[in-house]
Formats: sequence, structure tokens, C-alpha cells
Amino acid sequence: MPNNSLTITDNRTDRTYTVPLFKDTVRATDLRQIKTQPDDFGLMTYDPAYMNTSSCQSAITFIDGDKGILRYRGYPIEILAEKCTYLEVAYLLHHGELPDPSQLAQWVNEINSHMMLHENTKKFMEGFRHDAHPMAMLVSTLAALSTIYPDARRVNDAESRRLQCVRLIAKIPTIAAFSFRHTQGYPYIYPDNELGYTENFMNMLWRMVEPKFQVNEVIARALDILFILHADHEQNCSTSAMRAVGSSQADPYVSAAAAAAALSGPLHGGANEEVLRMIEEIGTRENIPGYIEQVKSGKCKLMGFGHRVYKNYDPRAAIIKQAAYEVFEVTGPNPKLEIAKELEDIALHDEYFIKRRLYPNVDFYSGIIYQAMGFKPEMFTVLFAIARMSGWLAQWQEMISDPEQKIARPRQIYTGYPAREFVSIELRG
Ligand code: ACO
Repeated sequence: MPNNSLTITDNRTDRTYTVPLFKDTVRATDLRQIKTQPDDFGLMTYDPAYMNTSSCQSAITFIDGDKGILRYRGYPIEILAEKCTYLEVAYLLHHGELPDPSQLAQWVNEINSHMMLHENTKKFMEGFRHDAHPMAMLVSTLAALSTIYPDARRVNDAESRRLQCVRLIAKIPTIAAFSFRHTQGYPYIYPDNELGYTENFMNMLWRMVEPKFQVNEVIARALDILFILHADHEQNCSTSAMRAVGSSQADPYVSAAAAAAALSGPLHGGANEEVLRMIEEIGTRENIPGYIEQVKSGKCKLMGFGHRVYKNYDPRAAIIKQAAYEVFEVTGPNPKLEIAKELEDIALHDEYFIKRRLYPNVDFYSGIIYQAMGFKPEMFTVLFAIARMSGWLAQWQEMISDPEQKIARPRQIYTGYPAREFVSIELRG
């Protein structure tokens, strides 16, 4: 009997099966041989919300949730956040290696030259209601890019895929900035090729009548770090949506729209907006114990706490907390940070949170820092989406190039009626 295998005894039939193990997993299809009758469908696994199912093999991001480790392509997130720019990290996610100076210059130049939106896309965005949520505008506009770039349907053409990835990474800050300007009723600002990626985004967001936007370098660097921290996070809800929709060979624009839609929910990327609302609801430090009691009695959740994978401090939260201090040096102290810190401190010492291994996640501090930078809560998830675009696309490329991947199509356990007699409408009721 091979060592690297599992022996399963089916107590219904007393038959024994040997199933090979592959990287500490069992291939679910190997269980199909386990049957009570020859014409049985065979054994399936049942795993709502994919709590214990690997849907792919991936070489992009590694997480050890128990130890609080996050690495992109083998590099610890702490080093990348300290030493790299966001576009350097986006290159790493896509190409598997860090760029040398000339590769980086070429990549940055390529991204810069694709930041403009087609005028039809601009007109499309002008059609949104004045109070449309920027995330809803982003989701719709990403899908609408599919109408501008029909060549994107050639998903099996590596050169076409590369071009769409460059376009999407380049255009998402422009769409995000236009969606913000739209809510304010301001004219849209076109990208400025002389600025870096993050600086350009700030320019498109905030330039008013001045001929050249003056970038605050501390804010720009903090935003760039936030983009690095959010760039990828293995098979999370939105990335799984990107892979699932992309697996039908839908083009990357509509697939990215689906990923962004998944991100918009309050249990995923929408959490940082909810954190800020929660801190506003708490209002003062005296109200914190009462709020914690409400959480413990199940009336509400402590937003920005808990994670499906991290059962330890989210390493991204620690980096953001540090970046927050640097931003507040520029923008002035923020009482919300004090409430957040105290909330964290109380929660980390409370039996309810300790027992459930609930720690601050990436969203606990990001909302506070974004607000201090001048962003409205409605923009928070949009910022997340800008950063995560590079991860979604790297994962999409990996999925398309993986010969084992097919159209995503889970099974179900049917719990409805067995076949029953049809009753015509006049005889019903
Ligand atoms: N506040 C209070 N209790 C919580 C919280 C929380 N934030 N998160 C989990 N719990 C409790 C649950 O009620 C449950 O308790 P029980 O065992 O008594 O029923 C237990 O901890 C386990 O929680 P699950 O919901 O089963 O954990 P799951 O892995 O399904 O959910 C999730 C993870 C969705 C992130 C959850 O922790 C949550 O809703 N957190 C708040 C929202 C949030 O911050 N989301 C951002 C995630 S990070 C990201 O997407 C970038």
C-alpha cells in the first residue's frame, strides 16, 4: 500500500478503498469510486462556503492564517510594503519575479500610457445618477469596458490577455476617480503622464483649478502601501468570483466586474466602510464597553474583526496601523483612531474574542486612514478594488493557463421533492 495514501472503509458495504494523497489533499473525484450500487453516482464531498476545499493550485500568494504570515511569490508582505512601489508588486504578481530597473520602467510606462478612458466610457459614466454609489459605478463600468475592447474575448491568446491586464490595471484608478468626481458634480480630470500611478490617481481625484496638482508625498506613499497590502489574498470571495466567471472563458472585463461585485459586500471589501460607520455609532470611548456587550450578545458584529483564514493578527492590519501614525502626522490627530485602538485592546483581552480567535483584519484600520486622507466612506471599497485588480488578473491568468482547470461547476445535494405529478392550473388550490 503506498505510504502517501488514505485507506477508506465504507461501512455500508465493508469495502475498502485506497485513495492517493496529493499535497495533503484528497482529489474529490477519487471518492466517486465509492458506491453502494454499480449505477450509484458515487461519493461526493459537501463543503458549503468552501471551508476546507482547495479549488486550484496557485503559486501566487501564501497565507499561514495561524501564524499571521502573508507572502506574494515568496516575499513577505512586510518587506514588499517597506521596499517596493505598488506597480513593482503588480509586476511581481503577474510575472512571478521582481522587475529589474529597465523592466520596471517599461512596465510603468506601459501602464501610464493606458490610463486614459475612451470618451464613450466617460459618457457612459456621465449617465449615472448623481448619488450613485461609486462601487456600483465601478462594477458597471468595468463590465462596460467589454464593449470597448471586443478583442478581450480571445482569452486563449496570451498576448491579448497581457494587453487586457495592462489596460485593466491602468484604467481602474481613472474609473475610480471619475466615479468620485461624478458624485461631487466636478468635471472629470484626465490622467497626467508625468505622475506615478498613485499620484496620478490623487491628481484625478482632487485637482481643481490649479494647473498642476501638488502631491503630498507622505499621503501618496501611504496610499501606495495600502495598495500593496490589498493586492492579492489567494482564494478569497472576489478572487474566486474572478476565477469562476473567467472559467467560462468570459472576457476579463466582465469577470473583473463580477469580482468587484463580490468585493462590494459588507462581509468582504465593504467591511472598512462598515468599520467607520461603527466607530461613528460608538461615538465616544465611554460607549465602547456597551458596544462590546451588544456584539457578544449577537446583536451585531465587531466589523473589521475576524477572518476566514487568519486566526491570528492579520499582518496587513499591523502595517496599516503603523502607516496610520505617519498619515496623522500630516493630517492631524484623529479621535477615531483612539476609539479603534481602545476597541481593539478591549476585544483582544475579552474571552469572547479570544475563544473564537478573532483579531483585527486589514479593514479595521484602513477606513480610518482613508478618511484622514480625505476619502469618503463610499470610496473605501473602490480603493480596495484598485489594488486587488492586479491580484484578480494574476489569478485569472494562472487559471486560464492551468490545464487542469475547467468551467467551475460545483455539485449539490438535492433536498427538494422527488418526481411528482403535475396538476393543471384549473385543478389547483
Ligand atoms: N464580531 C463578532 N463575532 C464574530 C465576528 C465579528 N466580527 N466574526 C466572527 N464572529 C463569531 C461568529 O459569530 C461565530 O461565533 P459562534 O461560533 O458563536 O457562532 C464565530 O465567531 C465564527 O465566525 P464565522 O462567521 O463562522 O467565521 P467566518 O470565517 O465564516 O467569517 C468573516 C469570517 C465573514 C470575516 C467574519 O469574521 C465577519 O463577518 N467579520 C466582520 C466583517 C469583516 O470585518 N469582514 C472583512 C474580512 S477581511 C476582507 O474581506 C478583506
